[in-house]
Amino acid sequence: MRVTVAEIQAMKRRGERIPMLTAYDYATARLADQAGVPMLLVGDSLGMTILGFATTLPVTLEMILHHTQAVVRGSERALVVADMPFLTYQVTPEDALRNAGRLIQEGGAQAVKLEGGTAIAPTVARLVQAGIPVMGHLGLTPQSVNQLGGFRLQAKTPTAIRQLFRDALALQDAGVFALVLELIPAPVARALTHMLTVPTIGIGAGPDCDGQVQVVTDLLHLLPGSLPRHAKPYAELADVITDAFRRYAEDVRAGTFPTAEQSFGLPRDVDEAQLAALVAEVQAEHVQRGELPDGGR
Ligand code: KIV
Repeated sequence: MRVTVAEIQAMKRRGERIPMLTAYDYATARLADQAGVPMLLVGDSLGMTILGFATTLPVTLEMILHHTQAVVRGSERALVVADMPFLTYQVTPEDALRNAGRLIQEGGAQAVKLEGGTAIAPTVARLVQAGIPVMGHLGLTPQSVNQLGGFRLQAKTPTAIRQLFRDALALQDAGVFALVLELIPAPVARALTHMLTVPTIGIGAGPDCDGQVQVVTDLLHLLPGSLPRHAKPYAELADVITDAFRRYAEDVRAGTFPTAEQSFGLPRDVDEAQLAALVAEVQAEHVQRGELPDGGR
C-alpha cells in the first residue's frame, strides 16, 4: 500500500519531517523506495538533468508520462507526484484536468504538481474537485525562468513576500495537499510554514519547512561540475561512475574483460571438432554462393 496524501498531512501535524526526492527512472525509484523515502517527484527538472535541455520549458506531457510510468513500476510504497509541464495546465482548467487525468490514469501517479499562485488557484480547485491531489510550487518557479530572469532567490522584498503569502493561502484554500517552496529566504519559509496547515516542502528554503525535496542527480552528484548552493552531495557518483567506465574501457582494450567467468562454453552436445566442421561447412557454402553471378540470391 502506498503512502497517501492524508498520511503526508498527518506527518506535519505530528511534527515529523517529510523527505522527498525527485526520481526519473525505474532503478532510482526502486532504491529510493527501498530506502524509505515516502514521496517521489517526477519533476520536469528531468528536462535538464536527464535530457540535457537548458531549462524545463521543452518538457512535454508525453515525456513526464514516460518517466512517471517507470518510477511507478520501480516503487511500491512511495507516493508518486508527477510534475505538470509548461502549458499543460496554464491554458484552461479543462485542459489541465484532461492532462492531469492522463498522469494519474496512464502514468499511475497519485498526485500532480503545478507551479504558480493565485492565478492558477481555480485550476487547482478544478483538479481537486475531480479527485486529483495537487501539490503547489511557489518561490522560484522554473517554468517562469524567462520572466524571473534566471534561477535565483525569490521573495526578497516586502511586496514579493506579501504576494508569496497571499499566493500560498490561495493555493491552500484551493485544496493543495502540500506546497513546494523553492529558493526563498529561510525566515520567510519558516513564517509561511507556521501560517499554513498544509505541509511545506522546501528546496533552498531553509531547515524549518515541514519537509525537504532534493533533485536526485544533485544528491548523488551524478553530473560533473559544481552544485547549486542549496544542494548537499550525499555521494560522489560522477567520480565513481566515470572511474568504473574508465576501468571497463581499459579492460576491454587490454583483453582482460570478459574472462571465462563472464563467458559461456560450448553446449554439451557440440564439441570442438564439430565446431571446426561447422566453420568449414559454412565457409565453403559462402565461397560457393559468392561464385554465382547474382551473388548467391
Ligand atoms: O522539477 C523539479 O524537480 C521540481 C523540484 C525542484 C521541486 O520541481
